[in-house]
Amino acid sequence: MKRVSLTQYLVEEQRQHQTINAELRLLIEVVARACKRISYSVSKGALGEVLGSADTENIQGEVQKKLDVISNEILLEANEWGGHLAAMASEEMETIRQIPSRYPKGEFLLLFDPLDGSSNIDVNVSIGTIFSVLKAPEGMDSPTEQDFLQPGTSQVAAGYAVYGPQTMLVLTTGNGVHCFTLDREQGSWVLTQSDMQIPPATKEFAINMSNQRHWHSPVQRYVDELLAGSTGPRGKDFNMRWIASMVADVHRILTRGGVFMYPADRRDPSQPGKLRLMYEANPMAMIVEQAGGAATDGKGRILDIPPTKLHQRVPVFLGSKEEVEVVTGYHAG
Ligand code: AHG
Ligand code: MN
Ligand code: MN
Repeated sequence: MKRVSLTQYLVEEQRQHQTINAELRLLIEVVARACKRISYSVSKGALGEVLGSADTENIQGEVQKKLDVISNEILLEANEWGGHLAAMASEEMETIRQIPSRYPKGEFLLLFDPLDGSSNIDVNVSIGTIFSVLKAPEGMDSPTEQDFLQPGTSQVAAGYAVYGPQTMLVLTTGNGVHCFTLDREQGSWVLTQSDMQIPPATKEFAINMSNQRHWHSPVQRYVDELLAGSTGPRGKDFNMRWIASMVADVHRILTRGGVFMYPADRRDPSQPGKLRLMYEANPMAMIVEQAGGAATDGKGRILDIPPTKLHQRVPVFLGSKEEVEVVTGYHAG
């Protein structure tokens, strides 16, 4: 089998389809290299003293794990000197990070969830990194938070790395979704699946059922109908999976279909849902749409949401088109 590396894929993408320029190509390579480093750290576990809590809190009021902090540092360090970025934003940092003045600045903005699925770190279950790339406003030298508040449709690239039994990088630059597997002996990313497609129909759903009593009625109704199985209104049996790492749940859906939900609920109206628009919902929505799936907040397309703040949370329904349409339809009714 002829092996295509991430580098070769990106060069050809630039040459043949012009969906990326040299600067974006460098940016993606640097992010991929950082993910490789995170993967090595993750896999060392207790031997690398990377497990456990960092005993600090992030801006969301969540206790940070050591790996949340390590991964954030790796991504910041890797991306500050290349000249491809105007600024960065991270789920783990209150405000945006400017590029140090000793380095040149580029035309892109990078946003990331450095370590997704933190609750799974210490139990050796798949975790990941999610990233999103936007263009900085023309001629902008020191971007402000406002410059990051662009809708998901403005993303020029999005991807995630999943640190599971294999480490994989899933990427879109707006020309389909492609999956690269990390070859640990060679230290390179090898293209292992082109043009991932989410089947439009599915019999598998993912939701944290422990929140059921808090859900609003459209989600109650939808999940009740799934659980009713072949004798219920949907006329078929559904299976359930919940990994509690969005990357791993989305990766399963990209591989064999499914619907993923993290709805808003009745608990705290100031927190509509758990997942963050800029670091989780938008990049995953771009990937899912590029793979033929759908992603909504129950009302409309996630990619069309005008962001109001950097750490904004949104309800998320994504995956196989037919199911996302059903549950979104119940919200309208
Ligand atoms: P993070 O670790 O970056 O804070 O994200 C965790 C998210 C997401 O990955 C996952 O789908 C969800 O939280 C799990 O939530 P529950 O703890 O409610 O299962
Ligand atoms: Mn996350
Ligand atoms: Mn995280």
